[in-house]
Amino acid sequence: DKPPLAPTPPMGWNSWNKFRCNIDENLIRQTANALVSSGMKDAGYEYVNIDDCWMATQRDAAGDLQADPVRFPSGIKALADYVHAKGLKLGIYSSAGTATCQGRPASLGHERADARKFAEWEVDLLKYDNCHDGGIPAIERFTAMAEALRATGRPILLSVCEWGANQPWNWAGELGHMWRTTGDIADRWGSMVAILDQQVGLEKYSGPGRWNDPDMLEVGNGGMTMTEYRSHLSLWALLNAPLIAGNDLRSMSEEVREMLTNREVIAVNQDWAGVQGHKISDSGDLEVWAKPLSDGGAAVVLFNRGAVGAEVATSAAELGLPAAPAYEVRDLWSGQETVTLGKVRASIPSHGSRMYVVRRGVPAKPVPAVATAVRTDT
Ligand code: DGJ
Repeated sequence: DKPPLAPTPPMGWNSWNKFRCNIDENLIRQTANALVSSGMKDAGYEYVNIDDCWMATQRDAAGDLQADPVRFPSGIKALADYVHAKGLKLGIYSSAGTATCQGRPASLGHERADARKFAEWEVDLLKYDNCHDGGIPAIERFTAMAEALRATGRPILLSVCEWGANQPWNWAGELGHMWRTTGDIADRWGSMVAILDQQVGLEKYSGPGRWNDPDMLEVGNGGMTMTEYRSHLSLWALLNAPLIAGNDLRSMSEEVREMLTNREVIAVNQDWAGVQGHKISDSGDLEVWAKPLSDGGAAVVLFNRGAVGAEVATSAAELGLPAAPAYEVRDLWSGQETVTLGKVRASIPSHGSRMYVVRRGVPAKPVPAVATAVRTDT
């Protein structure tokens, strides 16, 4: 069996979205430092993941993968030691192909040897990509690496990066702990919502130890507005997506740091029951996404994809909550709490969202009989 990892969606950072191939061991060390100093580690971010381009252009004399001697002169084991000393975990990357997407040596046909190396280096996660597949079916290629990782005896989280090409939600959960459901995200609104749309219907495949991965976060990379980034993070949290930051943690603004470390948003993502959120209503540009919580409450994202502000509404009944005399509505971004008889609604700017947790509650003081007396959008 695969190692019992990722009872809740994995959290961490990955080099690709911001740095592409422009990576080195200083970046990785500084990022580990920043995870700690920013409070992200305390908020739950754990994995420091090196993506493509860490390896030398050739295997070594023994046929093993080796780190790029210029960019990673100390080697991967030294980096793992550094990251572990901070209480973090190290992730690495290869491809189920004859080369990585960037043309570096990859692991097809070398699964046993490469998995042994990763274990020897004390790596904790492998992101396994899908480029240059050698004409071999995906399931075979990913199974070979999953088995090789198991054979090492080291618990290594396997992140299946197959881009949703062969419906990995049907098979990748037996092999690994998360699987990409789509092609690559880009740091643009249109890319983010296109990926969101492709998550509809996949909720039933995920759960503890097996997560749909709509790709890494772009929060803080500059191509979207802060309003759009907040929608991106709110929705990814609700989808039980692995929360893998993709920005430069060494220089992020306080606003971005606060967004990424919002404890209540993270708590929705990490809810122990692991039930993925999904879209419950859709009227044109106005959508409601909801996730049942293990304490009987519901998390909800009201989302306005349109070009103009609009009111988005749902109700306790639509959220699947039992009938109650009143409900507490907590806004996870403002911290504001209100009481409602059942309606949950807000006026939402273009590309914006509200994220709430709704729980049945007893009104502290008598609630007027008219639901509209309590607004949730102030
Ligand atoms: C394709 C993957 O989907 C990306 O996330 C990234 O790992 C690149 N390959 C690296 O080449």
